[in-house]
Amino acid sequence: MPLKLPKVIGHRGACAYAPENTLESIITAADLGTEWVELDVMLSKDGVPIIMHDDTLERTTNGFGNVADHDWEYLRDLDAGAWYGDSFSGAKIPTLEDALDVILAKNLGLNLEIKPTPGREKETAEVALDVMSRIWDDHERLLISSFQPVCLEVALDMAPDWYRGVLFDDDEDMPENWRDIVEYLDGATVNIGKKIATRELIEDIIDFEKPVMVYTINDPQLARQLQAFGVDSMFSNCPDVIAQNLMKVH
Ligand code: G3P
Ligand code: MG
Repeated sequence: MPLKLPKVIGHRGACAYAPENTLESIITAADLGTEWVELDVMLSKDGVPIIMHDDTLERTTNGFGNVADHDWEYLRDLDAGAWYGDSFSGAKIPTLEDALDVILAKNLGLNLEIKPTPGREKETAEVALDVMSRIWDDHERLLISSFQPVCLEVALDMAPDWYRGVLFDDDEDMPENWRDIVEYLDGATVNIGKKIATRELIEDIIDFEKPVMVYTINDPQLARQLQAFGVDSMFSNCPDVIAQNLMKVH
């Protein structure tokens, strides 16, 4: 079954309009007509897979310290919406299972980015994939991605038939051996940041016969340019704006 990538993926839900990586953000993305969402998953201290981007709590919750230092019992009570706006106060950090319930109810596709806290790379992938394998069966609309090769190695081992997206860091140059890395991990897609998304690199990835995915694109003009270069899919905080501004025929 082929991977059915949409042209636009809601980044952390639709995080221009609702607090990132919350159920509210996922619902907002769905209400805007977004086909897929991207979410980040990591583990609490006691091994519960939660939807969260940062290693630390301060930016997106009213908690303090490292996520990895707190059990789910503490994390579950935090407010993950008030930082964003009063109308979202009371929003919670979702577990992966909470998020999947909403994604399935809203009939969304998912790019699950495995985002381990340092030192828990293997375990995070194992726990997340275990949950996924119990709950998810639409492989055409699921992409497991990570910046951490070891997480994708676990995915290759545990769920070889699921599509894997190899993420490359926007703050570093594209490694010269990127083709070897993608091949070794049997990656289905190559996911790059907009800083390194030159026409030349995009064309190289197309020549390598992999779909190109670029994060995080919120500027319609840039989205159109990347589309013209041959980019297949873009992550956006405002997926509705980007979808409306892409050329309909590609
Ligand atoms: O997967 C695309 C994007 O989410 C990667 O960067 O830091 O937003 O997780 P980040
Ligand atoms: Mg992410």
